[in-house]
Amino acid sequence: MLKPIIWDDEKGELILIDQRKLPHNLEYFICKTYEDVAYAIKDMVVRGAPAIGISAAYGLALAEIKGENIYRAYNTLKNTRPTAVNLFWALDRCLKAYEKGKKILDEAKKIHNEDIEICKNIGIIGEKLINDGDTVLTHCNAGALATSAYGTALSVIRFAHYNGKDILVIIDETRPRLQGAKLTAFELEYEKIPYRIITDNSAGFLMQKGEIDKIIVGADRILRDGTVYNKIGTYSLAVLANYHNIPFYVAAPISTLDFYSDEKDIKIEERSEKEVLYIDNVRIAPKNAKAYNYAFDKTPPELITGIITEKGIFKPNEISKIVNI
Ligand code: MRU
Repeated sequence: MLKPIIWDDEKGELILIDQRKLPHNLEYFICKTYEDVAYAIKDMVVRGAPAIGISAAYGLALAEIKGENIYRAYNTLKNTRPTAVNLFWALDRCLKAYEKGKKILDEAKKIHNEDIEICKNIGIIGEKLINDGDTVLTHCNAGALATSAYGTALSVIRFAHYNGKDILVIIDETRPRLQGAKLTAFELEYEKIPYRIITDNSAGFLMQKGEIDKIIVGADRILRDGTVYNKIGTYSLAVLANYHNIPFYVAAPISTLDFYSDEKDIKIEERSEKEVLYIDNVRIAPKNAKAYNYAFDKTPPELITGIITEKGIFKPNEISKIVNI
């Protein structure tokens, strides 16, 4: 399986698959400093909520190894991307370990290794929702590339496939960064799981034709009432799924739950309008065109059938019960 994040103990370096180059080139981006890691997160060399968190943890470890100011590194890493809560969760966990006199690298490795098991469990638990013969739609990339391994939404799909279920995956291309067409398709190709890519605006028509049995997406942040923040376009899919009575699932680790923030505290990342006005460096819009480029949106709990976590599947309005498990 693809390993998007590798820690090289001998060299003391973080090796990331350069996701900007996929699917055509499998290249690696080496981080020797925490600034390299901050750049990698900001420029989306590495992306996806859990993968961002793990990388940031190693970034803080690099600062410690080099004897740099941990608080400065913490702030730089924290200011890379605002929406995925795993970034803040991982950095806070490492900072706490540091303040208790522990080695940050050990904590980063722990976060990394735990995530592999967590993603595996999400897949094992969630695959029970998938029937033989299902056509499952997914959005963006919530796969191995977005985590340590397996993925979240793609882990569910992966385990259904491993268990011999005959499934077809419909991948939203996911404009503007095309994580679906580029990354999810790359992963499914690698695993030989049958798929078709659609343009984002085709999803409704496929649902209307009765061709989608289930939808599974990942999450960047889940609030205590079950509100889900995820890649832009998730909300539209959830509304469509609701209208067409199609189960709509969100798969995410507990580290994506944010029980402390309210909606007003959440910053939806706005990225450069260039991502909309250009495709792969070719300008597609008129010279003076302006664009909006929100990277994430908000899906209310009433549109979500269930949230698949490593601890089980929860109704969105019951997700806060997870703290007692
Ligand atoms: O902008 P990205 O590519 O980091 O956004 C990724 C997503 O929105 C994923 O669905 C989410 O992070 C879950 S990844 C397991």
